[in-house]
Amino acid sequence: MRAEQVTTTVVRGYVEHGDARGRELGFPTANLSISAGSPDGVWAGWLERADGSRHTAAISIGGRPTFYGDHGHRLLEAYVLDFAGDLYGELVTVTLGHFVRPQLRFDDVEALVAQLGVDVAACRTWCESSDREHARSSAARRAHPSVGGARSARRLG
Ligand SMILES: Cc1cc2nc3c(=O)[nH]c(=O)nc-3n(C[C@H](O)[C@H](O)[C@H](O)COP(=O)(O)O)c2cc1C
Repeated sequence: MRAEQVTTTVVRGYVEHGDARGRELGFPTANLSISAGSPDGVWAGWLERADGSRHTAAISIGGRPTFYGDHGHRLLEAYVLDFAGDLYGELVTVTLGHFVRPQLRFDDVEALVAQLGVDVAACRTWCESSDREHARSSAARRAHPSVGGARSARRLG
């Protein structure tokens, strides 16, 4: 198994209205307010809906320097992959799984949109691989309950 340092951060909140620019760009986002300590950048992760369903997401945290320079209002925006519904007003939980890149200031909207396509592909690949790994280790734990945990080792001893 490949060793990799993963920092997981969870943000929960009600989806708010954004500037509605995301839909025009082809990447509509669910927007959440964030606290000062939230880690800026583009992340691969998941959005869990109020009904418990979990969706792969490309997540961006920061002030959107392409549009607002250094003075943008910071927020979390989650583009939910393969999803077309309306999330406004819903209580959602966003999990940041993997840092992809910092937020950047692009010269024009075309360059940003091209990068968003690359980001979404990278997020899909990372999340699929993480989900597979999680399923594999869950299956291994079910098959060999004594493997991989000090607690179960102690219980057996
Ligand atoms: C995966 C992802 C990456 C993003 N990266 C950047 C970025 O590097 N720079 C930037 O200015 N905005 C970035 N954004 C934010 C977009 O500019 C923003 O989603 C768009 O302007 C729509 O804003 P709205 O939801 O307020 O309408 C990113 C958004 C997503 C979903």
